[in-house]
Amino acid sequence: MSRHLDAYTVTKAASILGYTPQHVRHLIRTGHLLAFKAGRDWLIPRWDLETFKDSSSERPKEASQPSGALKTDNGNKTAWLALNEVYCGDCRELLERIAPNSIQLSVWSPPYHVGKKYESGQSYEEWVDLLETVIRLHYRIIEPGQFVVVNIADILCFEDLSMPRIQADLVSNKRHAVTREMVLQAKKEYPSYDRYQLADLLGCSEQTIDRRLNGNNVRGGKHSCQTRVKLVSALIEDAAIQAGFYLYDRRIWHKDAAWQNSRWHNSSYRSVDEFEYLYFLWKPGVTVIDRNRLSNSEWQEWGSRGVWRFPSVRANDLHEAMFPVELPLRLIKLLTDPGHNVLDCFMGSGTSAVAALRLGRNFIGIEKVRDYVDLAKSRLAFERRRAQSSLFPHRVEPSADVAPHRVPRHVT
Ligand SMILES: C[S@@+](CC[C@H](N)C(=O)[O-])C[C@H]1O[C@@H](n2cnc3c(N)ncnc32)[C@H](O)[C@@H]1O
Repeated sequence: MSRHLDAYTVTKAASILGYTPQHVRHLIRTGHLLAFKAGRDWLIPRWDLETFKDSSSERPKEASQPSGALKTDNGNKTAWLALNEVYCGDCRELLERIAPNSIQLSVWSPPYHVGKKYESGQSYEEWVDLLETVIRLHYRIIEPGQFVVVNIADILCFEDLSMPRIQADLVSNKRHAVTREMVLQAKKEYPSYDRYQLADLLGCSEQTIDRRLNGNNVRGGKHSCQTRVKLVSALIEDAAIQAGFYLYDRRIWHKDAAWQNSRWHNSSYRSVDEFEYLYFLWKPGVTVIDRNRLSNSEWQEWGSRGVWRFPSVRANDLHEAMFPVELPLRLIKLLTDPGHNVLDCFMGSGTSAVAALRLGRNFIGIEKVRDYVDLAKSRLAFERRRAQSSLFPHRVEPSADVAPHRVPRHVT
């Protein structure tokens, strides 16, 4: 034990817990053990080690294992992806590194093929191939009887140059009166306003603000005259059936009408986006039906309901397509038990992992853009701190050299 603090070094903690020092470092990195940096080593407070030891019989087995089973790749042993980590990479490669039948719920929202920055350069065919491949790769890793839930808009739109190129006759089209100078003046007067607030102030859309400031529309091209609109459900269902899943259910997420995200209403008779689908794909096997997962009022308000109503994320400046935490929270509560493993292979800003953490489930996150991985990690670190400070309201917020920490099961 350290002479200065009631704490153990990594080597000592490893011998107490019966793990290797490498595994103890892994537990620190993944937030299962609280630790303070001491030179090149870590110090683990005695109370935290004892709480960790006491709760080890209750912890899901996987959470204390660095890598579960091993697979052989060209003769080399490669560890399966560890739980409670966010990985940077293409999910088509990383899904192959998840242990078989180890995921109880995979919840994700793929790129929607509507021209977001992270989709640039991807053709429609490549997008379809991405979805089909990802669904196929899920079959091996989902536990029988459990689910993949795909959140996606009910229709997608993409440029199709084979469509008749007939321009709409926009008889009422007038240029918006808001000028760049007006936006710059408003920004000067209200420097803390984001583009939504500026739009409210000037009585125009948030896209007008973008166009005035950046000179063009940074979003997808839904309004071009050769825009195809296509239903997504058949595509998902066919991919699921081919992979071995069955469509089990679909629900509607009714979000706020996306007036500010859509230009359809001013250049066509198309409606604005105001709902998305949740497709539940079932892997054949025994499904545990536990009515105790939700309270009576939760069953009545949303558990048994086909339409879920909650707003989308308005301030999506960090990631342009975040879904609200309410979405994975409901799915995780409904379809898993504490200690189960939740996957999001299009992790974005880490919303599903935050929800999993809040509900005491393990997670694996995969995201191809490094900045989003970093964003997800910092959201998770914040979530862990938030959870801990509500359990220890009188504790001083740890300084930057403290590793992320787990939420102890017992407060002694
Ligand atoms: C619709 S967003 C998901 C947003 C997420 N639900 C959130 O709340 O932040 C899709 C994400 O998938 C990522 N992505 C796209 N293709 C990918 C791939 N092949 N492998 C991993 N991530 C990918 C994008 O970078 C983007 O962050």
